[in-house]
Amino acid sequence: MVWWGLNRGIGAASIMVVAALCVLLGSVTSGWAGVHDGGVGSCNICHAMHATDGMSPGGGGGALLDDGPASDICLSCHATDYGAVMAMDPLVPAPERGPGNFIFLLADNLNDGPSGISDPIPGDAAGHNVRAPGHGLATDGTYMNSPGGTYPATMLKCTSCHDPHGNTNYRMLRGRGTPQGAGAVFFYDAPSAKGLDVVLGSDESNATHVAYNNGMSLWCANCHFDYLDDHNQYVSNFDHPTDDALGTDQIQQYSIYNGTLDPAGGLFATSFLAAVPFEDAGNGVSTTSGPTASSRLMCLSCHRAHASSAPHAGRWDFNIETLGQDGVVSGSYPIANPYQDPGQDPLCWKCHAGGED
Ligand code: HEC
Ligand code: HEC
Ligand code: HEC
Ligand code: HEC
Ligand code: HEC
Ligand code: HEC
Repeated sequence: MVWWGLNRGIGAASIMVVAALCVLLGSVTSGWAGVHDGGVGSCNICHAMHATDGMSPGGGGGALLDDGPASDICLSCHATDYGAVMAMDPLVPAPERGPGNFIFLLADNLNDGPSGISDPIPGDAAGHNVRAPGHGLATDGTYMNSPGGTYPATMLKCTSCHDPHGNTNYRMLRGRGTPQGAGAVFFYDAPSAKGLDVVLGSDESNATHVAYNNGMSLWCANCHFDYLDDHNQYVSNFDHPTDDALGTDQIQQYSIYNGTLDPAGGLFATSFLAAVPFEDAGNGVSTTSGPTASSRLMCLSCHRAHASSAPHAGRWDFNIETLGQDGVVSGSYPIANPYQDPGQDPLCWKCHAGGED
């Protein structure tokens, strides 16, 4: 049966086999159920075909001799299914469900600012450049290491952040203590959150969305430690808290803000904006209310975890003056504007009247 066929192949050919099987089984939603929880036969899906690059369990020269194909294997199932974290075309991304989309790393230009034509920002600034040559993804061309940390860009892959063998953490994220693929040991626990079901879940909306509960900024700090200190204020161009309780002003503003055309007409009960989430232990996937005194700002209030169609994995493009400008100069995919109005101000306004403090 299927596993036998897979075991006979090696390298790229096998990846294509897996990819083809994923397409075939894509409509059978339970086609690969159990792949991450050690079910019988599950090991071979990722391992047997990779004996040559050290991914053979208990054998080979260590799991890291060639870490590119490892991410290709993940993408053979996840590019367009089971959460769809990549898609095939930067102008036709998979629907957004929380983490963002790796396909934007292949965009030609992300710069929608005034200098967008003369000074293009290549797609590799769209977020985390996992190396997956079979899907066209290469190591980042800008950073040697994680900014504000020491994680080598050449080692970045799906399993830098996710445990391929499954664990009980949100999205099987790596937790504290155990060495991960590149040998790094995380100091901070995995975040606590609830996500949409990767197989059957709907796409992100203000009524259905990831619920962030706590710990995300610390988790990101496993690789970006200096960003806990006012966003790496001595190096970054942006000086801002990153792991902080929302103040009274931001709580009030978030609740009443309903876009540039209706800046004070919002209601607490319906003010949650999936595009600008905050952490709160009380958040659920269908929470629609705004923040309270226990709510916090975190990295993913402004960034997506994988990549976005804006520089630095921004949840909105940090370089433009109104959201209607997104994609116009660069021709890149315009990020969905939650208020539709093309004259909408940047989403900093959700927390700050006047765009700032
Ligand atoms: C979804 C893909 C996938 C499945 C399924 C899988 N592995 Fe792995 N495994 C990997 C990857 C990728 C690595 C390389 C290490 C890394 O990047 O974390 C790895 C590494 C290993 C290692 C080296 C030590 C380590 O943990 O890094 C062992 C041993 C191992 N796997 C055993 C197994 C066994 C046994 C099974 C079945 C119960 C299994 N794996 C199923 C992807 C998988
Ligand atoms: C053979 C297909 C297949 C491969 C290969 C595969 N996955 Fe999955 N993955 C699935 C399916 C099906 C699910 C949903 C059911 C489940 O969690 O087992 C899933 C779920 C996930 C989830 C979400 C878990 C949750 O409960 O929210 C993550 C994260 C994930 N996979 C990451 C990876 C990574 C990283 C790799 C590569 C090391 C990988 N997957 C390889 C099929 C695959
Ligand atoms: C820098 C860390 C990082 C890397 C690298 C990374 N992920 Fe993720 N991934 C995350 C985080 C964090 C989340 C949860 C994000 C959220 O809910 O906002 C996530 C979510 C997911 C999900 C859930 C998707 C959904 O629709 O909710 C899947 C599947 C997944 N990742 C697969 C992958 C695959 C496959 C790769 C490699 C191609 C990868 N990830 C690389 C951090 C990472
Ligand atoms: C396993 C280590 C690791 C973790 C965990 C991690 N990152 Fe990164 N991050 C990197 C590396 C390495 C780079 C530089 C290479 C690149 O940009 O692809 C990077 C780059 C970035 C960039 C700049 C992208 C660009 O090209 O401008 C942003 C923004 C970012 N990370 C945010 C986050 C956020 C937010 C989290 C938590 C959800 C996070 N990172 C978690 C390793 C990590
Ligand atoms: C209030 C919004 C906001 C929050 C919260 C935030 N960032 Fe950023 N981030 C930005 C903006 C805006 C930029 C672009 C700055 C620029 O133009 O250089 C950026 C850029 C980055 C970059 C690219 C390098 C640089 O500094 O320009 C990294 C890496 C990064 N952020 C990581 C993080 C991490 C990690 C966290 C959480 C610990 C975080 N950010 C929290 C808004 C935010
Ligand atoms: C999710 C809510 C949220 C978003 C979105 C947000 N901020 Fe903030 N901002 C805060 C919080 C919380 C503080 C800390 C307030 C305090 O200490 O009183 C803050 C502080 C500030 C300050 C004062 C900085 C300091 O060090 O005292 C400025 C300026 C600012 N933000 C600008 C921005 C800009 C520009 C953006 C968009 C790129 C943005 N903020 C997005 C929540 C947010």
